[in-house]
Amino acid sequence: MIPSEAEYARAVELLRAGELVAFPTETVYGLGADAANPAAVAKIFAAKGRPADHPLIVHLSGHDAVDHWAEQVPDVAWELMETFWPGPLTLILKKQAWVPSTVTGGQDTVGLRVPGHTVALELLRRFAAASGEHAGIAAPSANRFGRISPTTAVHVQEELGERISLILDGGPCKVGIESTIVDCSRGEPVVLRPGHIAPAHLEAVLGRCPAIATATGAPRVSGSLAAHYAPQTPMRLVAGHRLLDFLNAQRHKGDRCGVIGHSQPPQAGMPHLWRMLPADPVGYAHDLYAALREMDHAGVSSIAVEALPDGAAWAAVVDRLRRAVAGSGSS
Ligand code: TXA
Ligand code: MG
Repeated sequence: MIPSEAEYARAVELLRAGELVAFPTETVYGLGADAANPAAVAKIFAAKGRPADHPLIVHLSGHDAVDHWAEQVPDVAWELMETFWPGPLTLILKKQAWVPSTVTGGQDTVGLRVPGHTVALELLRRFAAASGEHAGIAAPSANRFGRISPTTAVHVQEELGERISLILDGGPCKVGIESTIVDCSRGEPVVLRPGHIAPAHLEAVLGRCPAIATATGAPRVSGSLAAHYAPQTPMRLVAGHRLLDFLNAQRHKGDRCGVIGHSQPPQAGMPHLWRMLPADPVGYAHDLYAALREMDHAGVSSIAVEALPDGAAWAAVVDRLRRAVAGSGSS
């Protein structure tokens, strides 16, 4: 699915006028504004209801723009860019003095990413052609603060439709969970948010496994809040071997429970709303947010998610599920 010429032109016009445009990336949909225009960036925070001290990622059309936004870029960061951009990797780097503090949440660093989606790249190239070759689009995920990130244009419409001028539709997102964030601003690279690019992929470039940040001492990352990516329906994780007992008990209580599983249902003909996700971490990530939204829409009174396997390959989806459980049922 590709936007028309007229839609691209309108998107660039709106961005240049300081308005918001939602656009697809390969991870999730973003809510974009001209990153060099603090008044435009402020509209992102207002539309999402996001606290002002949470920094945004600046999306660029290519590596060439990096030095315009960041300084003291270490060699290791260039190596990561060469390997993974365009793609689902965000690098945290020391910011140039001019970069507006509305974008960086008042920090001395800036998050940069060249997304791997043809519509995002086309928008970024056209915006840079019109506004200056290093121009960037600041964009968080296009959901209300704390809620599930959108992976289709319809999700963005549901979340923010009445608050934004234009949504570019690029079809469903390929990856389905947010980018991996690696902090390269303070010596050894540290993973701040796990994602599709796993520690093993980073290790192949870095020559060693990167450290994974713990909540304390890490720079502010809204996706690192204990409660995030959350459905409105209360949700819990249940071990696969306990699922049958758990669901029977819920039924006795009169609870209409929805189930998100990845292995076979424990027995045929269960009366619950079942949503089966692929039993591999990449497929699971691709479908997870849409499944959570589906459960919210189905009007179930709670969601049971079959607990996931251990292991590094599952770390990114386990991370999102844990935070979704913590934030679920809050509205
Ligand atoms: O895949 C993605 O990363 C999507 C797409 C749209 O690019 N964007 C996204 O944005 O997930 P957002 O704002 O929902 O999450 C970005 C995370 C936030 O948790 C923010 O705190 C962190 O990146 N971040 C941005 N700049 C940072 C900085 N200078 N230091 C530490 N964390 C930063
Ligand atoms: Mg987000």
